[in-house]
Amino acid sequence: KNRYYMPEEKRSKMPMEGGGEQGRWEEERLKTASLSFGAKKEREKGLKAEREKYQLILEEDEIINFVSSAQEQAALSQAEVQKQSIQEVRRSLPVFPYREDLLLAIQQHQILVIEGETGSGKTTQIPQFLMESGYNDGGMKIGCTQPRRVAAMSVAARVAQEVGVKLGNEVGYSIRFEDCTSERTVLKYMTDGIGLCLKVVVVIIDEAHERTLHTDILFGLIKDIARFRPDLKVLVASATLDTERFSCFFDDAPVFRIPGRRFPVDIFYTKAPEADYLEACVVSVLQIHVTQPPGDCLVFLTGQEEIETCCELLQERCRRLGSKISELLVLPIYANLPSDMQAKIFSPTPPGSRKVVVATNIAETSLTIDGIIYVIDPGFCKQKSYNARTGMESLIVTPCSRASANQRAGRAGRVAAGKCFRLYTAWAFKHEMEESTVPEIQRTNLGNVVLLLKSLGINDLIHFDFMDPPPHETLVLALEQLMAELPVDPMLSKMILASEQYKCSEEVLTIAAMLSVNNSIFYRPKDKVVHADNARQNFVVPGGDHMVLLNVYTQWLESGYSTQWCYENFIQFRSMKRARDVREQLEGLMDRIEVEVCSSGGDIVPIRKAVTAGYFYHTARLSKGGYKTVKHQQTVYVHPNSSLFEEQPRWLIYHELVFTTKEFMRQVIEIDSSWLLEVAPHYYKNKELEDSSSKKMPRKQGKAKEELG
Ligand code: CDP
Ligand code: MG
Repeated sequence: KNRYYMPEEKRSKMPMEGGGEQGRWEEERLKTASLSFGAKKEREKGLKAEREKYQLILEEDEIINFVSSAQEQAALSQAEVQKQSIQEVRRSLPVFPYREDLLLAIQQHQILVIEGETGSGKTTQIPQFLMESGYNDGGMKIGCTQPRRVAAMSVAARVAQEVGVKLGNEVGYSIRFEDCTSERTVLKYMTDGIGLCLKVVVVIIDEAHERTLHTDILFGLIKDIARFRPDLKVLVASATLDTERFSCFFDDAPVFRIPGRRFPVDIFYTKAPEADYLEACVVSVLQIHVTQPPGDCLVFLTGQEEIETCCELLQERCRRLGSKISELLVLPIYANLPSDMQAKIFSPTPPGSRKVVVATNIAETSLTIDGIIYVIDPGFCKQKSYNARTGMESLIVTPCSRASANQRAGRAGRVAAGKCFRLYTAWAFKHEMEESTVPEIQRTNLGNVVLLLKSLGINDLIHFDFMDPPPHETLVLALEQLMAELPVDPMLSKMILASEQYKCSEEVLTIAAMLSVNNSIFYRPKDKVVHADNARQNFVVPGGDHMVLLNVYTQWLESGYSTQWCYENFIQFRSMKRARDVREQLEGLMDRIEVEVCSSGGDIVPIRKAVTAGYFYHTARLSKGGYKTVKHQQTVYVHPNSSLFEEQPRWLIYHELVFTTKEFMRQVIEIDSSWLLEVAPHYYKNKELEDSSSKKMPRKQGKAKEELG
């Protein structure tokens, strides 16, 4: 079974320099196609040598035939990125020649859409242009919104370095519950809580093409604000996608195009679909490593677990091959990776070796890694979707959109001519992939959004000016659930408010903070799974996962918030630090809403009652073959990572429902059904809560190994 990469018939529709290589690829393809039998003698000889080279490292039936070309040699010399000074780098970016034109356009228009390839300098340069030309005179400020925390931090650090100031002084960032700015801050990169005060003179909505929830909300808000703040400049920065729509939404605002891509990227497809894309990635990386000229490689996978598996497989195969191949540096990158390890992907590749970065789509547009020449794209991503009726949020691996695929390919052409290997067929690209990704606002729980908008004084949400309105049902549900004035989910707010009545606000604040850092407390590296699981097991206490989280936090507090303690116990320090910040903020708010902070002194019943008061909507009852939600009779399962996985109590409250391989409840706590009548008599009737049998249910649920990652 031979696999081939086929050159794309038509080049990607993105504007590219170079090109004109169609003939060569056609010819190469013929050569590849005739590989099997009857080819000319000398060609066979060449192929035999080639095959022997492969056989050193790969089984014959795994070989994927790459085509080679003279152009690659030329690319190679360009690829040797010389050390340049920061100013030289700035001047070399595609946006640089357009500095004056751009400033003029900004001066002439209140709202401007700016379109440019990823890496052209929109995020790092445009705010500097604005500063250099005095937009911030008189204490005015420039804000740039970012969809991702990692990007906000790393971009702010980069810009501070370019400007030559300490991060947090003139240039800073502010992400949820973490503020790295001061009174001196002129330029602020931020993820949310836009704080659009009168001092803000320019707001840049960056990475607009990602259409994240916050970006979409901002669109509506800013459009409105711009009407009565004629002095406010609004820049909508986007990769080369969909910019007409932005322009249209902002009453035909002009689009400023930064011409951009510097090098062509050749795109290859597999001839047949790949059954196992992870394995295909591993093979492709190895093959690139042995047959292709120097240049780093970027692989797109969907999540931490896949990334770790891929890295492990690669390392294992490299170990076996030993000195048969040159050094291959395998580096993972995903949002939950500890920051010191994240930084590694940016360090230069030593001569004679090759770097392969295995990433989530964090590397699609938000992060730019220099030196990438090869991209491997299996064509998948993890996507959130939300069903308002059942309240189920799912995170499923789905094919990515054509727009995403093109973004990924573009990452190969930044420093030299590059190549993108798509592990799917040209047919699938054309017929099976969506044109672009559905905006997040149409597939998410809107609880927080509604809270945010309401807190900004926007009351008529049904008629809010959304670029793409969310489903009516989702919005209405969110409005129904709205009940408090805390910057957290409505149900979480209710839980906190109830903790006063049950005299356990001390504990509940901690639980709320831990819940809001969301599933990234425990660190579980692939190579230390046993240790990590043991460490986690040591935190288990009766009552359920909320109590476990409380226990983790309490022990950490007792360690003096120690980093070392986190390291030893496989706890993510960054997440804990965030939880601590959240907790402090919430505690500060208690005063405002007049909730007394006190402790239950070790009694876990009041704590669980407070959780029930907030999450009574999320009740599940043990029944045949699993659990059933009380309201919708939907079958759901305890997540294998839960402390209650074995125990299977009769009644549970879950924090969230997530569909991965099954409908899983994440973070569950055991309750007594009578509490439901106590906390939500308006919602539950006695009859609903009667136990249908008094017998203990058999333990049906098998340990779902695939979910243990
Ligand atoms: O926003 P856009 O994608 O247009 O480009 P950018 O993020 O401003 O990146 C411009 C240049 O800055 C790229 O060449 C990056 O390599 C560099 N950069 C960096 O070195 N470190 C960062 N954290 C961000 C950008
Ligand atoms: Mg950018």
